[in-house]
Amino acid sequence: MADAHDILQTAARIAAGHLDGLADGPVWRPTPPALRVGLAGQALPDQGLDAEQVLEALERDVLAYPMGNGHPAFFGWVNAAPHPAGVAAALLAAAMNPSSAGGDHGDVHLERAAVRWIAELVGFPHEPGAGLLTSGASMATIVAVGAARQRALAAAGWDVRAHGLSGAPRLVAYGSEEVHSCVRKAVELLGIGSENLHVAPVDESGGLQVDALRRAIAADRAAGAVPFLIVGSAGTVSTGAVDPFDELASIAAEEGLWFHVDGAYGGLGVLDPAIAHRYAGMERADSLALDPHKWLQVPAGVGCLLVRDRAQLRETFSYVPAYLRDDAAGELGWYSEYGIEQTRPPRSLPVWAAIAARGREGVAADITACASTARLLGELVERDPDFELAAPVETSIVAFRYAPAGSEPDEADRLTAASAAAVQAAGRAFITDSTFRGRAILRACLINPLTDAGDVSLLLEEVRGAGAALRP
Ligand SMILES: Cc1ncc(COP(=O)(O)O)c(C=O)c1O
Repeated sequence: MADAHDILQTAARIAAGHLDGLADGPVWRPTPPALRVGLAGQALPDQGLDAEQVLEALERDVLAYPMGNGHPAFFGWVNAAPHPAGVAAALLAAAMNPSSAGGDHGDVHLERAAVRWIAELVGFPHEPGAGLLTSGASMATIVAVGAARQRALAAAGWDVRAHGLSGAPRLVAYGSEEVHSCVRKAVELLGIGSENLHVAPVDESGGLQVDALRRAIAADRAAGAVPFLIVGSAGTVSTGAVDPFDELASIAAEEGLWFHVDGAYGGLGVLDPAIAHRYAGMERADSLALDPHKWLQVPAGVGCLLVRDRAQLRETFSYVPAYLRDDAAGELGWYSEYGIEQTRPPRSLPVWAAIAARGREGVAADITACASTARLLGELVERDPDFELAAPVETSIVAFRYAPAGSEPDEADRLTAASAAAVQAAGRAFITDSTFRGRAILRACLINPLTDAGDVSLLLEEVRGAGAALRP
């Protein structure tokens, strides 16, 4: 068996070769059918393989078929090209392999800085302990909605930790039609029920319509329900729209509701001076979910929740069994008292590294580059008679349609939706589709600062070619 030194050197060579070679290969290609079957169905080996063989198999059969998100012409979903410093730090984190639940080891202390740095980057007020790293924004949202539920029911005289929800007042949460599905999952999982997530319509850019929200809150109160949570989006997933936070924060304050911002994809957009004004009021939220594994380019598996009042998390989650009592933990206690996980991976290392390697200015320059290239793509779309912009470009997602002259809206829907798969299959660019206000859209998400003017022009030519080939 190779020693740790040899195997890690080989791993580093393979990882570096992979990153260096990404831009030269296809953005994405399907896994050959026989390999799919082979990967999924392979037999459990009786004897261990040589460490070199293990890495060779991974390089040949797995790394050779990537998702595509490391490539500058990848515009799909919201998946980052990992920052090399983050990749390297993820390896160090695995070598260290602590549980970041708490205690006195470097990763635990580093998480305090990583969380505070994220808060400072986006201008969210922060006291030590008022936030933690999670597996992603879905988990951050569950933690935030759990804390909001706890606070609202405690105010109504109901101890949800002891009694559960049977017989509790009916809670109602609010968001827009474009609120991310992770909010729906959180309210379902926490026993609030998706029927009690009331969504307000959006305007032409995808932002929540505040008047409709006010009316919904009044109607629910009149019906005897307890409104408890407003969720605003700092970048919706379809169009990148930013909700009107100042107004949402004021409504939440007037009505005594928890105000949560889903900044999973777009929270960091506040670093681009050209669009920072859209985020006014985000700092007034009770909680803010962000995803370092998106626009901050940390390798996948890291979200972050920031809260205004750390006591709200502890009141919701703290449970310290006798075997975990740690008098040395100090006033802040363990991270496991602030969320759901007990054993927690050391997520702070890649987050810290991806920020430290660039500093505030470098991160801001990367965010600004993405948003400005997205605006360029928006302009190209608007000028081109074959395309229609589906919504103004508010952050770094460009929602558009392939709608060549003479095409009826229904035909443009069909061509738009079908062109995504055709572009993906051709392998020169990668884009995904969705719907917005009842119409098919393509949505190009730009979170790789290496994506440039050439890549966005290439994307449009790929869509045009694919769309034209789909016409009868
Ligand atoms: C706007 C938005 N919110 C929440 C999420 C969920 O985040 P995660 O995938 O990290 O759980 C996503 C993921 O794409 C998103 O784009």
